[in-house]
Amino acid sequence: MAEPSPTPRVLPEGLPLRTLGTLVNESSDETQFSATLVAAPAVAAALPGQSTPMILYNGQGPGPLIELREGQHVRITLDNQLDRDSTIHWHGLPVPPDQDGNPMDPVHAGVRRLYEYDIPPGTAGTYWYHPHPDRATAEQVARGLAGPLIVRAADDPLAHIPEVTMFITGLKLDSNAQIAADSAIDWSVGRQRETILVNGDRLPVHMVRPGTTQRWRLYNATAARHFHVALEGHTLTLVGTGGGLLGAPIAGLPEILLAPAQRIEILATLNASPNSRYRLRALSYEADYLGLGTYADDDLLTVVTTNDIPATPVDAPTSLRPIADLGPTTTRQLVELDEVHGLCTQTGATVTFLINNRIFDPNRVDLTTVAGRVELWDIVNHTAMSHPFHIHGTQFQLMSRQLGTVVTPAPYLAWTDTVLVPSQQTATIKVRQATPGKRMFHCHILEHEDNCMMAILDVHAA
Ligand code: C2O
Ligand code: CU
Ligand code: CU
Repeated sequence: MAEPSPTPRVLPEGLPLRTLGTLVNESSDETQFSATLVAAPAVAAALPGQSTPMILYNGQGPGPLIELREGQHVRITLDNQLDRDSTIHWHGLPVPPDQDGNPMDPVHAGVRRLYEYDIPPGTAGTYWYHPHPDRATAEQVARGLAGPLIVRAADDPLAHIPEVTMFITGLKLDSNAQIAADSAIDWSVGRQRETILVNGDRLPVHMVRPGTTQRWRLYNATAARHFHVALEGHTLTLVGTGGGLLGAPIAGLPEILLAPAQRIEILATLNASPNSRYRLRALSYEADYLGLGTYADDDLLTVVTTNDIPATPVDAPTSLRPIADLGPTTTRQLVELDEVHGLCTQTGATVTFLINNRIFDPNRVDLTTVAGRVELWDIVNHTAMSHPFHIHGTQFQLMSRQLGTVVTPAPYLAWTDTVLVPSQQTATIKVRQATPGKRMFHCHILEHEDNCMMAILDVHAA
């Protein structure tokens, strides 16, 4: 089942790390954010001298950075200039179910649709947006539709530290410089052999004055890559997950695992030596099934220190913000991840992964809950590969992991919307949904999500 590596290694490398363009707020009232995202065909010059048809938001790949503030009322119109259905899903944000771009809510070709929601206090964090159309999410993301979204708090304890957004995507081209379609292997284990890009470029260079402390927001927007982020010659300080800051910084980390769809905030303090090069690396993680994956060590970008006198490093505050445990629970739900053969084979997938042994059906409710109720969910992975498990509409807390009979409590509380569940492990989370309506939950390997590994949670009014 070996597959040739189709992306020629001639993507331009070593360009300065791009600063992503931001989506301009058309409202003059700061309590409002209004803008339009046009999803349209675009031609990119991924390889010199060849053109690659893509589909982009506002002509930008990655899509524009959306910067929101806690308390804002948001109105963003999707102008779908594609020849097919699409949606925008506000990954991780607590938007109402009917504004969340579910596959049951398609925006048809040629149609404009307004998404409207509020950003509640306490939401500050690192989110992203991407299409979520029925069985076509993987393809639309692979062709370029995805972008970063940051919610800022008025009282951000790290506001004095310079910030850099690093949006990591995958690109796989065929021999004609066209975005490669998913193969049968991709449909089985998630898109393989992508070239990793950061802010749209291969191995960009990030120039920093030696000694500087920066706050980096890293997004894993690839379909299926799991990697350990590591900076050569340095340790990293974790200060935040997707749903915002931790209670306190965790310093001295040689590497941090970043699964598909996850985001982290880290502080990096560069060594004081001028004119030095350090690779920000994506070290391997064995996530794959039957050794089909290519999760070898790879590089994300190169940090180069300038010739300047070293800056004075900035210390992180010892505490960032309180994170309270979601509290007592009376309900426990079971979510089993299973592996079967001979189902959902229209994509060519030889193995299919299911949730609670059922094929996704947009007209069926799989679990129910009540708005405001705190629940424990046990996510049990019976399969031979890792799955990044995601729930829409809220941030949740990982409580513990279990492998065999060994239970390991989570080392710290954090807000996340995607938890990695390695093969044969159980992850136990506490989760609460605030708003009635239907919420998707699924594996965030996009091919799995499109190919049956998704389900619906119906949140009833309290
Ligand atoms: Cu980013 Cu339903 O997911
Ligand atoms: Cu989501
Ligand atoms: Cu999966």
